[in-house]
Amino acid sequence: MEYKKLNNNLKIPLLGFGTWQLKPIFEAPQAVAAALEVGYRHIDTAHIYFNEGSVGKAIKESGIEREDIFLVSKLWNFDHNKVEQAYEKSLKKLGVDYLDLYLMHFPVTKTRISAYKDMEKIYKEKRVKSIGVSNFTIDHLKELMSQTEIVPVVNQVEFHPFLYQKDLLEFCNKHGIALEAYSPLSHGKRLDDTTLETIAKKHNKSVAQVMIKWSLQHGNIVIPKSRNLGRIKQNFEVFDFKLNDQEMTSINNLNEDYRTCWDPTKTS
Ligand SMILES: NC(=O)c1ccc[n+]([C@@H]2O[C@H](COP(=O)([O-])OP(=O)(O)OC[C@H]3O[C@@H](n4cnc5c(N)ncnc54)[C@H](OP(=O)(O)O)[C@@H]3O)[C@@H](O)[C@H]2O)c1
Repeated sequence: MEYKKLNNNLKIPLLGFGTWQLKPIFEAPQAVAAALEVGYRHIDTAHIYFNEGSVGKAIKESGIEREDIFLVSKLWNFDHNKVEQAYEKSLKKLGVDYLDLYLMHFPVTKTRISAYKDMEKIYKEKRVKSIGVSNFTIDHLKELMSQTEIVPVVNQVEFHPFLYQKDLLEFCNKHGIALEAYSPLSHGKRLDDTTLETIAKKHNKSVAQVMIKWSLQHGNIVIPKSRNLGRIKQNFEVFDFKLNDQEMTSINNLNEDYRTCWDPTKTS
């Protein structure tokens, strides 16, 4: 596994496992167990995924040491006025005594600055290893950095060939914020693209593997999700090939500003 050093020197595995929409009883336990078995050591969950309990149980049952897993959860939008309680609730559900990364799920208007300050307090008390944000635009980040003390370690945003957020990536790089690519497989919606199919064939890889690799080669942390054992394994096998400059450019050119999830650009 390859790692990236965050701006507080913590090391994060570049490839993580996403858990959104994994059903708590019939999918999350099996999928997280499979991911850990395959070698993923970075698990991304959130209060609003309603599967923190299953994720925590799968981690515990894997027998892997807690410190060998990079565990991420997120502060939900309705909890901005009770950050500390929300954090403690996530810890309790996950059955752990700290998170490696706690993210603000969305830049909710009016409450995001005060909620981030409450996250800073938890960080300063050393109850969480790092704090970051999600779905923040450049404007949201500028505002945050002008009004708070701790630069977020990560901005987790939708990022895939059809939503190549070049300006946001450059801004994050410039300010030492790691970009974490969510829905790196376009939430499964654009896996039939012919440009990607041609490139994948050339490398004897799948379109999903090419999408993950493209994002990794942009320097991103990438968190694909799958409920299927074969695909969980396949998505992890992306460190044995490299896209050349021409392939990277053709994939960059697929950008359509196509979003499958939130559109934070409309949030003032
Ligand atoms: N911060 C946020 O607001 C936010 C928003 C969205 C997502 N996220 C995080 O990012 C993670 C990933 O994003 P995502 O779940 O939206 O979508 P994704 O990882 O881009 O795509 C998942 C979809 O692709 C399919 N898939 C996975 N691997 C495949 C493969 N090798 N070949 C073909 N199909 C494949 C999955 O189906 P199967 O499961 O059936 O394999 C599923 O339908 C989430 O789980 C979550 O942790 C965060």
